[in-house]
Amino acid sequence: MTSFTSHSADLAEHTAFPWLADGLAYGGDYSPEQWPEAVWAEDVALMQRAGVNLVNLGVFSWGLVEVADGEFDWGWLDRIMDLLHDGGIGVNLATPTAAPPTWLLQAHPEIATVDAEGRRTAQGGRLAWSPSSATFRRYALRMVRALAERYGDHPALRMWHVSNELGNENGRCYGEETAVAWREWLTAKYGEVAAMNDAWGSAFWGHRYTSFAQVELPRHNRTQHNPGLLLDFERFTSDALLGHYLAERAVLREVTPAIPVTTNFMVQANPGVADYARWAEEVDLVANDHYTIGADPHREADLAFCADRSRGMAGGRPWLLIEHSTAAVNWQPVNRAKAPGEMARNTLAHIARGADGAMFFQWRQSTAGSEQFHSAMVPHAGADSQVYRDVVALGATLRALAPVVGSRVERAQVAMLLDHDAAAAWASGPKPSSLVTAVDLPRAVHRALTELGIAVDVLRPGDALDGYRALVVPTLFLATDATADAVRDFAASGGHVLVTYLSGIVDETNRVRAGGYPGAFCDLLGVRVDEFFPLFAGDTVALDDGSTGSLWSERVEVSDGTEVLARLAEGDLAGTPAVTRRATGAGSATYLATRLDHPGLVALVRAFAAYTGVTAVATVDGPGMEVVRRVHDDGRSFLFAINHAASDRTVAANGRDLTDGTATEGRLVVPAGAVRVIEEDPR
Ligand code: GLA
Repeated sequence: MTSFTSHSADLAEHTAFPWLADGLAYGGDYSPEQWPEAVWAEDVALMQRAGVNLVNLGVFSWGLVEVADGEFDWGWLDRIMDLLHDGGIGVNLATPTAAPPTWLLQAHPEIATVDAEGRRTAQGGRLAWSPSSATFRRYALRMVRALAERYGDHPALRMWHVSNELGNENGRCYGEETAVAWREWLTAKYGEVAAMNDAWGSAFWGHRYTSFAQVELPRHNRTQHNPGLLLDFERFTSDALLGHYLAERAVLREVTPAIPVTTNFMVQANPGVADYARWAEEVDLVANDHYTIGADPHREADLAFCADRSRGMAGGRPWLLIEHSTAAVNWQPVNRAKAPGEMARNTLAHIARGADGAMFFQWRQSTAGSEQFHSAMVPHAGADSQVYRDVVALGATLRALAPVVGSRVERAQVAMLLDHDAAAAWASGPKPSSLVTAVDLPRAVHRALTELGIAVDVLRPGDALDGYRALVVPTLFLATDATADAVRDFAASGGHVLVTYLSGIVDETNRVRAGGYPGAFCDLLGVRVDEFFPLFAGDTVALDDGSTGSLWSERVEVSDGTEVLARLAEGDLAGTPAVTRRATGAGSATYLATRLDHPGLVALVRAFAAYTGVTAVATVDGPGMEVVRRVHDDGRSFLFAINHAASDRTVAANGRDLTDGTATEGRLVVPAGAVRVIEEDPR
C-alpha cells in the first residue's frame, strides 16, 4: 500500500503512514446523525456506487456523543463506524470540538469568544469557544481522550481530523481570559517591556507601557490601534488557535501514536487568522478546504493559486483537498450552482496540483439546520439527480487516476513568496490605500503565469530557494532582514527576481524601513521611491509600452546601471519609471511599480520568462487551459490538461489517456470544458 510521510515537527524522524485510501481519496463530510438510521444503509450503498472510500465523520457531533457532562452515548457512532468499515469506507474521525454542546455553553458561558465590541458569542452556532479558555480546553481534551480510547483501534479509522476550520468562527477573541494569555505571550516574546515599547514604537501618542499588565487587547476604539501591536495580536491569535490544535494532538499521539493527525486549513482566507505555513509543520498531512466564489469570473485561477499554496505548505508532498462543494454553497450573497463539468474541473485541478484526494462538504444535503441549502454529493433531489450522477462519474475518473497517488507536482522553475505576517502587517492600521489587498497581486501574477503554462511553487520566506531559476516577490509588505538577504543572495547567485511595489516596506516589527521604498530591496533593484501615489478606484494610468496600471503608482528613481523597461505615460508622474531591471552578475532584479491589468501582467511575465529562460510545462494554444505535470520518483509522469475555455484547446503531449487508454501523439485536443490526464511516454 502507498504510504505518505509526515513532516510534523513533533516526530523525531519522518514517519510513514499508510495512505488513507486505495487510490485517490474520495468522499465527503458525513453527518449520519442528521438522519434516521434507516437511511444509513442507503448512504453506504450510494457511496459504494460513487467510489467513495473515505468520509470525515463526527465533525460537529459532540452534543450527540457526550450527551451530558461526562455522560457518553457511543451507540450510534459505534454502529456507523462498523457499517462504514463493512462497506469498505475509511474514516477521518473528527474530534467534535468545533461545536460545543448546549449543556457546556449553558454551564460555562465564559468559554465563548468575545468580539472587539465586548459582545460574547451566544449559543446556537458553532466554534463559539475561545482557544484561551482553560475550561473549554479541559472539556475538549476529555472528549478527545474518550474518543481516541474508544476508536483508536477501530479498523475504519484512517486519520484524526482535529476540530474544524480552527479560527473560522472563533478567531480573534477579545475576552478577559484571552487578555491574560495575550500578556503571557507578549512577556514570553519580549522578556522586557522596554523591548516591546521599542518594537511597537509606543512613544507615538505617548503609549509607553511600564509593565505587560498594562497592555490591553486591541478592542473597539474610535481611533486606530498601533500597527506593531496589531501585528503581534494576529501572531498571538494564530498561536493560540495552533495551541489548541497541539493540545488535542498531544492527547491523540499519546493514545494512538500510529494514527496520523490533521486539521482542515482555509488557505483561501487572506489574511486569515492562521499562519498556515507555520501550522503545516504540525500536521501529518496538509488538508485544505476550498470554495469557489460564484461571482468571481476567474474562480479557477483562485483555485489554482490556493492549491499551489497548499502544496507549498506541504513542502511539495501530496496533500488532501478535504472540503470543496459539488455545487452551490449557502454563504455567498447569491449561491450559484456549478456549470456542467465545473465540479469535475475543480476537483481535477486540485488533484493536478498535488492533492491525493478530494472530498466535499458534505455527503447528503441537510434538510434542516443552518446549512440546509448548501450543496452535497447527494442533493435534496436524491440519487436521481444530475449532481449525484456527476459524483458517480467523477468517482470513476478518480479511480482511473489511481496511478498518480504518491507522485509530486514537477518542481517549478519559478518560486513565489507569500507570507501570513506580511499580509497581516498590510491589514494592520491605516495604509496609503485601502483598495490594495495583500493577495491581489500575488494571485494576479499566479494567474498570468498559469495562463502561459508556467508552473510556480508558492513558498514561505525562509524556504530553500536553490534550484529555482526565478523568484517573484509580489507586494510582500513585510520583509525581515533574513528575507531581504535570501532574495539578494538568490539574485547574486544567478537567479532572476521580480519584486513589486509594496514589498519590503516594513520590518518584522511592522516598522517602516526608512531611507526610501522598497526599503529591504532598494539596493538589489537599484531603485528608490520617495513617495507613493495610489490611484482612486476606477482610475488608470497608461504606460509607454502600451500596458495599463491601476491602484498604485509611485515616484521611482533609478540608480546608474538600472535599465528602465517602461515608464508612466500620463498623469502627475508621466515619465517616471514603472518597470525596471538591473543585472546582478548572471542574475537580474526586475521591479514593477504599478498594478498592471491582466494583459499587462501576461505581457510582463512573458517577457520576464523569455529573458530568464523560464519555460512552460507544455505548449498550449490559447488562454483558459491549465497544464500541470505530476511525476513519480521512478520517472513516470502525468500531464493534466484542464480546459476552462469555451472552445477547444490543444496541448503538446505524447502518451496514453489514463481514463480510457487512448493514445496521443504530438498534439492533444482538449474539448471546451474537458479535462484530460495523460500518462506520458518517457520524456
Ligand atoms: C466550511 C466548514 C463546513 C461547512 C462549509 C460550507 O468549510 O468546514 O463545515 O460549513 O464551510 O461551505
